[in-house]
Amino acid sequence: MLDSKNMTVGIVGLGLMGASVAAAMSLFGYRVVGISPVESEVDRTAKRRMRKQIEDVVGRKLVPGTVEHYLDQIRISNDFQDLSACDMVIENVLENLEVKKDILEKIEAVVKDDTIIGTNTSAIPINTLQKFLKKRDRFLGLHWSDPAFTSQFLEIICGDESDQKLAEKIKDISTAWNKEATLLRKDIRGFVTNRLNYAMYREAFYLVENGYASMEDVDRACRTVGGVWMAFCGPFRFMDLTGVQAYYRVMKDLFPTLSDYKDVPEFVEKIAQEGGNGISNGRGFYQYSEEEAKAWEEAFANFYYDIYALKEKHPPESLKKLT
Ligand SMILES: NC(=O)c1ccc[n+]([C@@H]2O[C@H](COP(=O)([O-])OP(=O)(O)OC[C@H]3O[C@@H](n4cnc5c(N)ncnc54)[C@H](O)[C@@H]3O)[C@@H](O)[C@H]2O)c1
Repeated sequence: MLDSKNMTVGIVGLGLMGASVAAAMSLFGYRVVGISPVESEVDRTAKRRMRKQIEDVVGRKLVPGTVEHYLDQIRISNDFQDLSACDMVIENVLENLEVKKDILEKIEAVVKDDTIIGTNTSAIPINTLQKFLKKRDRFLGLHWSDPAFTSQFLEIICGDESDQKLAEKIKDISTAWNKEATLLRKDIRGFVTNRLNYAMYREAFYLVENGYASMEDVDRACRTVGGVWMAFCGPFRFMDLTGVQAYYRVMKDLFPTLSDYKDVPEFVEKIAQEGGNGISNGRGFYQYSEEEAKAWEEAFANFYYDIYALKEKHPPESLKKLT
């Protein structure tokens, strides 16, 4: 029986996301076993990333303990056997089918029969990964975003053989992690959030590649419209707020003209092939000096906290009671 207040959580893979989820689990009050299949990354990046995230959260006084306390709760190892006492294990390794297969099999070989196994895959179907396990009902997609402690995002995805009750239980538990989790009862490529986002990215590329607007103007349009209402409500509520009839009339004419392009747009292809990665190496859709990259990164982190504080002033639950 899962005791959500007293869990040991295993995190396998300590790259960008693994380090972030490991730090979050410690900040939520759990004992963490962090397994890195790539030993060299532990001292090179993983410890530094975890410390940075924990320092940030402790520095903002969002948790009661000290930085050293939360770091001490994370035991790092390269021996999968150390996962044997875990109640939940989440894999965060490379987005590669063969690598994930190998890691999931290694996890299942050492954990208890009722240990929940999660994958933080962004795009590999949960049904595909689920088949790599023998006991499949305890397997779920648990899709996080960085920083895992701060972000309210969590997608919980059921494969065909997942226990839906277990998924509901994780959704309940995740409210204590300050998540507004989305539960997918059926697996679909890209899950909910990426399907919505990528539909928007595709249209953004279409408008720029065909000379209708510049990247700057597309970015600005997103900030001034969607960027304002989306932290408050979703598309269905927004259409209710602003009048369904108008949407009905516009959809008829507009839907047939939207991009349904199937290939990766040329200019993202070019940036990716040339090694551009955005803020992290200064070369993305825009160019950044080191100083500019740092300023954008810091502003984004601060904005995250501010927008969540604003959301808390307008919780959807309090509005539901009025209807
Ligand atoms: N980056 C994001 O914003 C994001 C968001 C949500 C989910 N994800 C998913 O999280 C997972 C990890 O992504 P990331 O961004 O942390 O990537 P990353 O490259 O930072 O980390 C990948 C980790 O995989 C492990 N690894 C690398 N090669 C390996 C190998 N040959 N065998 C076993 N393990 C190996 C290492 O621990 C490495 O740090 C992916 O499935 C990704 O799709 C990423």
